[in-house]
Amino acid sequence: MTKDIKHIHSYYSPNDLYNKIIDGLAKMGKDLSKITVDDLQPVDEFHIRGDTATRELIELAEFTPEMHILDVGCGIGGSTRRLAQETGCRVTGIDLSDEYIDTAKRLTQLLKMQERVSFDACSALELPFDDNFFDGVWSLQMNMNVEDKLAWMKETCRVLKPGGRAVLYEVCGNTNTPLYFPVPWAQDSSMSFLLPANLFRDVITAAGFDIEVWHDKTDLAQKAFANAKEPVGEPNLPILGVYLLVGNDIQTKAYNLHRNLDEDRVSLIETAVVKPVFAATGI
Ligand SMILES: C[S@@+](CC[C@H](N)C(=O)[O-])C[C@H]1O[C@@H](n2cnc3c(N)ncnc32)[C@H](O)[C@@H]1O
Repeated sequence: MTKDIKHIHSYYSPNDLYNKIIDGLAKMGKDLSKITVDDLQPVDEFHIRGDTATRELIELAEFTPEMHILDVGCGIGGSTRRLAQETGCRVTGIDLSDEYIDTAKRLTQLLKMQERVSFDACSALELPFDDNFFDGVWSLQMNMNVEDKLAWMKETCRVLKPGGRAVLYEVCGNTNTPLYFPVPWAQDSSMSFLLPANLFRDVITAAGFDIEVWHDKTDLAQKAFANAKEPVGEPNLPILGVYLLVGNDIQTKAYNLHRNLDEDRVSLIETAVVKPVFAATGI
């Protein structure tokens, strides 16, 4: 792992994550032999608007059961499993964090979904897959930690079959800078690399994709965080939540995200892009 991403890896490396989640489920009175994708939703969908957004992306993606999809920056695999469950397709998730991938694998076994859902720990910039391997790709809120976005997009394009679709749900910059830190994806500015949405769009096309759909979802993100308050005193945390993934200062991070959204410092987009067929055939 290169020096410049070691601190990002450390940020996403809590100790003993799987057991903390299992303890939480037990405290909530869940029968561990009957855990469902829904039961894990408070902790395993680490992106703005959680499961609601995942379901919208599933509709947008139009992936079908015979497809094999890559989830880039899958975290602990919540949306990876949801995608497999809702569409019937096979999904492989990759993430930089070994701890997240270990947790993703164990949760997937707990849900008995390992035949259709698998995981690998690796960087999105060096995917261990052949060219033109996947029928589709999706990536939910990972780009913020990636400085070389063109290299990432080119690598994504490389592993996708010609004609295949990639769906991205991403936080971008906006007209104001700098950001308030910490935010859910970064403790400080050394881990956060946001491009304004129009420049992110340019990177996607420079990597070889055609943009099919482009939706600005900033207003929905603003609504989702409208009630985030500056925390006072000891945090009052739920039994299960994404604080288990990135620390007990999650309420400060949510409050800063709310301010960044409302002051036009960040934006939120979803997009569906296609790898043109001529990219592989040279026609
Ligand atoms: C905000 S979380 C989103 C996780 C997941 N997509 C979800 O929605 O639940 C960002 C994820 O990107 C991963 N990540 C950051 N940089 C990465 C890279 N270069 N390669 C692969 N994963 C990366 C992190 O480890 C983290 O799991």
